[in-house]
Amino acid sequence: MKRIIVGNWKMNMDLKQTATLITRLRTQITNPTARVVVCPSFVSLVQASEIISSQKALLELGAQNINDNDEGAFTGEVSGPMLKGLVGYVIVGHSERRIVFMESNELIARKVAACIRNKLTPILCVGENTNERQEGLAKRTVLDQLEQNLSEIIPSEASKLIIAYEPVWAIGTGVNAEPYDVEEMALAIYHYLVNKYGTETADKIPLLYGGSTNGDNAASYLAINKIGGLLVGGASLNYKVFSSICQL
Ligand code: PGA
Repeated sequence: MKRIIVGNWKMNMDLKQTATLITRLRTQITNPTARVVVCPSFVSLVQASEIISSQKALLELGAQNINDNDEGAFTGEVSGPMLKGLVGYVIVGHSERRIVFMESNELIARKVAACIRNKLTPILCVGENTNERQEGLAKRTVLDQLEQNLSEIIPSEASKLIIAYEPVWAIGTGVNAEPYDVEEMALAIYHYLVNKYGTETADKIPLLYGGSTNGDNAASYLAINKIGGLLVGGASLNYKVFSSICQL
């Protein structure tokens, strides 16, 4: 399976900065070893899509959020049908949405289902916080998130998923998870998926790692058994660093 490197731009980059960053990435990423997905803000997606196709950039697009409904009176929200055709991927269940926007596991499950219904690939993020890790509850937390967030996904749909393991304490903090711990969690996630959907399907679901990844540590995470790519936050805004990660 080809590696997947996803850049989560979060709430950064206005239209002009988006155009500059995409153009720079296009110039640098000429021989990627991965499928490269960038996730700008909603307002930048149309422009980003136009630049990617006109410049023939080796980039795919993802959104950072989706509403669980397909249409209706939901002021300020963006639906699957609006994103379909514009992006291929949607980040769902990111810890910032779980914590800052108080998204529940039930809502995240409906968002994963909305992605599948609209033929968008959900990048489902799971991960424990500091307390849960210290109390030895990391695995239980992550597997419980998976159990709840995938409750609407049947085996025939499961191969469309991407799962990203992102320990909350490693996101945006510069604190690096030990590759040994990441491997242990990746194996636990894989075995969970084997149990739920069977080996053949589980083998098709890419597992990404995310949390303070950068040009110095990316290779060590990519070398981990069962890790098939990275979800990069802060470092994805630096075109030199992000391009280098995509060509490792
Ligand atoms: P970070 O963010 O790489 O800046 O830690 C990762 C993420 O939030 O997905």
